[in-house]
Amino acid sequence: MRRQVALPLVLLAASMSSAAQDALRGKRLYYDLAGLTSAPVSCVECHGGFPGAAHGIGRAANDPNAIRYALGSIPQMARLDAHLSARDIADIAAYLGAPDVASPQLVLVSDGPGTNHGAQGRMEIGLSPDAGVLYSGMTLQNRGAAPVRLRSGPVISGSGAAHFRLRFTDCTAGRVLPRGESCRFEVALDPDARMPAPVATLSIAHDWLYGGERVALIGRVAERAGGKTRLSK
Ligand code: HEC
Repeated sequence: MRRQVALPLVLLAASMSSAAQDALRGKRLYYDLAGLTSAPVSCVECHGGFPGAAHGIGRAANDPNAIRYALGSIPQMARLDAHLSARDIADIAAYLGAPDVASPQLVLVSDGPGTNHGAQGRMEIGLSPDAGVLYSGMTLQNRGAAPVRLRSGPVISGSGAAHFRLRFTDCTAGRVLPRGESCRFEVALDPDARMPAPVATLSIAHDWLYGGERVALIGRVAERAGGKTRLSK
């Protein structure tokens, strides 16, 4: 008799845990549905950041049926319906109910020695007249309460990619950055670069919003004009 009772209990426990809503996953869907699926837009594009979002979306907190109803009744939302599973909808409702769910929060900070560093998402590497500065460094910090997993190290692509070289990195595929940890990379400008301002993109893939970070790499090559040397604009 014990066995007959125990089996349904085990099944019940298993189905409860697999149905448990994942607010962190819901947050990622809310902000990045279009990146994760072939949906044309994400919730954030019409509703804005949550909390404080528009159109009374907060009423769907912990209430997947309210989202289902909106998908079926609001014309602007109809085209999202096919891209959302029952689990996705449950997870988004869980996020709306727990907007402060522990999440990764990634910040890119330039740390020199290249010129004009400081702007987030942008790394300028100046080739000084005396060839003193040929590279620049940047850290990727996780300031959020949940860890992030890197899916790649820095990859340089784009029209001017051949003019840049990854000089150092400890941001590597598979590395997990818990709260407060960072990894770092350095990019060098090819000293023979003759383009006025070579431009490329450095990307690091990860498992959080937008699937990665992107940094614009901008080379500033010294120009000699009228006996003076200045960095290209
Ligand atoms: C293309 C724009 C657009 C997108 C994308 C969108 N919505 Fe909406 N949504 C609206 C508009 C507009 C309304 C309000 C309609 C009204 O009040 O008449 C609305 C209303 C809602 C409501 C109803 C709120 C209430 O009054 O009960 C919910 C819930 C909702 N949206 C959830 C979502 C979720 C979740 C997503 C992402 C999966 C999403 N929406 C994506 C435009 C959008």
